[in-house]
Amino acid sequence: MSRIKEIVMATNNANKLREAREIFSLLGIEVVSMRESDIECDPEETGETFEENALIKAKAVHDITGRAVIADDSGLCVDALGGRPGVYSARYAPNEEKCSKLLDEMKNIPDCDRTAYFECCIAFIDDKGEYKSFSGRCTGRIGYEEKGTNGFGYDPIFLYGDKTLAEMSPDEKNSISHRGAAMRELYKYLKESYGE
Ligand code: IMP
Repeated sequence: MSRIKEIVMATNNANKLREAREIFSLLGIEVVSMRESDIECDPEETGETFEENALIKAKAVHDITGRAVIADDSGLCVDALGGRPGVYSARYAPNEEKCSKLLDEMKNIPDCDRTAYFECCIAFIDDKGEYKSFSGRCTGRIGYEEKGTNGFGYDPIFLYGDKTLAEMSPDEKNSISHRGAAMRELYKYLKESYGE
């Protein structure tokens, strides 16, 4: 199989890029952002699953560049809310209001029903247009208040054990997170397919 030296990541999110770069550097593959590749594209995420949305983003960038692309889609699924906000996690509320809005929605939900999970799907399209996807999940609970200052999004209210994700270092979060798990699956596949 031909060797891939560079992959475009269909994002400009610095956190996602850093995580992907850490993993891909082990394979000698450089990850470039859309901005670095001069690509402007913001396709509508009309999918009903994380996989559909990841594929929509990856395809949009692959159609423009013809290059190898990865795109991820992720979100928080709360059991007591029937899996919401799920694929709508990014659109649930403005960033600074996401945690407070969710805590408010859950104010009458008892401890035993506060289970939730983050899910991530990464779509990979190779330079020939072939597609594969990889998923990861991180299961925990929704707390009662915001704690910690690291991370982003819903991290300050998502408890993994007795710590929120926002109380973890980036490495600690990577080792248990949905995105870390999906990235490791992708890494295994790329190592088998393209590794030296
Ligand atoms: P997207 O994957 O960029 O479409 O957005 C998913 C949304 O889910 C983000 O805007 C965050 O609000 C939330 N989210 C996804 N992954 C995480 C995470 O690791 N921590 C906290 N929030 C997350």
